Amino acid sequence: MSERKATNVTWHKSLVSRQDRERMNGHKSVVLWFTGLSASGKSTLAHATEERLHQMNCRTFVMDGDNVRHGLCSDLGFTLEDRHENLRRVGETAKLLVEAGVLVLTAFISPLRADRERVRSLFPHGDFIEIFCDAGLEVCEQRDPKGLYKRAREGEIANFTGISSPYEEPLNPELRLDSGHCSVEENVDDIIALLRLRRILPLPE
Ligand code: ADX
Repeated sequence: MSERKATNVTWHKSLVSRQDRERMNGHKSVVLWFTGLSASGKSTLAHATEERLHQMNCRTFVMDGDNVRHGLCSDLGFTLEDRHENLRRVGETAKLLVEAGVLVLTAFISPLRADRERVRSLFPHGDFIEIFCDAGLEVCEQRDPKGLYKRAREGEIANFTGISSPYEEPLNPELRLDSGHCSVEENVDDIIALLRLRRILPLPE
């Protein structure tokens, strides 16, 4: 599915490098890859972190599963094969945005380790930061903001992550957030601290 079919194509090198853009922006560009069950807090945390970064004059963009599936990936469903293609497209798009100097925040269930590792492999070491939103199935099912868990339990939705489709927890994420119990503010604080520690953001003066 992801084999390159195009032949006779040659890479054209940009005259403005990613490093040039990062220098202009005053911060590094990386991808913050939020993974976790539906309702684990991925989108909420990605958007809250983006807001905090925006207030710090950073260039940011959130790619959100539900939104991307309205356009770029509207032809895909929720079989493991379709999720694989969904994440391949999203990974490649995130790579373009990182090249453009943007701090990219993605919110996708991305249930399989192999798919996440494949996206990680698109980036230079250190530029893919996996953030596990670890709320636990029980909490996610209690929250059920879209009523999807209930419908999945009743058999109305097939291949639902955590119910009838697998979720493989990250073994060694860059950050694990207890998004079932901590506040959004606490979780965002932890993310910003990690970005400073890794010098993706400058240290405060
Ligand atoms: S992923 O597995 O390919 O990464 P993605 O994050 O894009 O999934 O989409 C997940 C969102 O789609 C969920 O937040 C939920 O709102 C919706 N959804 C609809 N059907 C399903 C399903 N079968 N499994 C999981 N999420 C689903």
